Amino acid sequence: MNYRHAFHAGNFADVFKHIIVARIVEYLKQKPAAFRVIDTHAGPGFYDLTSDEAQRTGEWTGGVGRIVSPALAGDAAALAAPWLDAVRRVNDGDGIQYYPGSPALVRALLRPQDRLTAIELHPVDADTLRKRFEGDFQTRVIELDGWLALGAHLPPKEKRGLVLVDPPFEKEGEFERLADGLKKAHQRWPGGVYALWYPIKDARAHARFRDRLVEAAIPKIVDVTFFIRAHVDGGPLDGCGMVVVNPPYPLEAELAALLPVLRDRMADGTGATFDVARLTPERL
Ligand SMILES: C[S@@+](CC[C@H](N)C(=O)[O-])C[C@H]1O[C@@H](n2cnc3c(N)ncnc32)[C@H](O)[C@@H]1O
Repeated sequence: MNYRHAFHAGNFADVFKHIIVARIVEYLKQKPAAFRVIDTHAGPGFYDLTSDEAQRTGEWTGGVGRIVSPALAGDAAALAAPWLDAVRRVNDGDGIQYYPGSPALVRALLRPQDRLTAIELHPVDADTLRKRFEGDFQTRVIELDGWLALGAHLPPKEKRGLVLVDPPFEKEGEFERLADGLKKAHQRWPGGVYALWYPIKDARAHARFRDRLVEAAIPKIVDVTFFIRAHVDGGPLDGCGMVVVNPPYPLEAELAALLPVLRDRMADGTGATFDVARLTPERL
């Protein structure tokens, strides 16, 4: 396991992913019943953007750095607020030094009745996570292969919630693992919301992934893609996507308001674009 998220924290892909996660969590909070978020590839949870790793790539300057200022306006500001407030709360003043990863973001959004399970396999990152959430009875940190959680940990006892699957894509076969993992998880817990993040490095691999998802015969799948520039296969990362299963009903309308603003803010040259595609209908 060589992947270290510290090099990429706060980049365009994190902004895209974390805003969608925050929208889903905000939706779950509309009902008083408790829910659980299961983050199967949680990372260390918190990032210093002045660290050697973050400075070496500078990726965050093209991501969260473009969103914090100038301030967003209108609907986009309101929709991004749960995520952006969580980012602001870990920083002093208007500047930005720290960036909350998915478990820190989700934790910041939970109500007292809600729970987070954060799973991480890298022993150093798992240890960092454990220390961060020590004594927090709402959060359970587990050092484990996140793919196993899609079996054993589902459904959670709350019977409501979100499973975030955000693997590093450093090994061959990650798209197949994602699609097969979703199928297994959905059989165990058809009512859960699932958010699966992936990079788009090869357009044909993305198309095959979509075919595999459709073949899985799971209803209510939405695939959201986002590019900061015109895509070139095999080039530096210029796009990514999020598959959402059982999306909250307002999500597509929210994304229609948010994504044009995120695209314009984080565009790097020409060809920045996004798409929200329904892969499978409400009922099969
Ligand atoms: C993309 S990063 C996660 C970023 C995090 N979800 C966020 O949004 O802040 C992927 C993480 O998965 C971890 N990882 C790699 N293989 C894993 C596995 N089989 N199970 C759980 N975690 C794994 C890596 O150590 C890395 O921290």
